[in-house]
Amino acid sequence: MAEIRLLARLGARGERRIEAAAGEPLLEAINRAGLPLGQSCRGEGICRSCAVQVIAGAAALSPPPPIERRARGLDLVGGWRLACQAQVADPAATLVVWHPSWGEPAPPPEGSPGAGPNTPAEPRDTR
Ligand code: FES
Repeated sequence: MAEIRLLARLGARGERRIEAAAGEPLLEAINRAGLPLGQSCRGEGICRSCAVQVIAGAAALSPPPPIERRARGLDLVGGWRLACQAQVADPAATLVVWHPSWGEPAPPPEGSPGAGPNTPAEPRDTR
């Protein structure tokens, strides 16, 4: 089982840690943790409201499928993925995931140019 650290800083609840099996979408794991995350298209990869920033461990996820690349239109710089489309590919991995609605900004991912410590890169619409 992969470990997923969710950088939620909602009040005093702090970071959440959950486990996810290989092949499980990030969205299912986040829903199990009870954290708020938009999903108005119910995982169809259309609404883009489930975009999360993968701070660490992005290589342990499945590559973005065509529907994610088309519907998302997001710049991959900064580690943004659609949680409904990104599946855990490496069950031995540890991932760190953040969403703006979960609390204060997370530090930028390694190698993210131009992202200041308190200004994580927001998903950019490149459509
Ligand atoms: S739930 Fe709509 S794009 Fe992921």
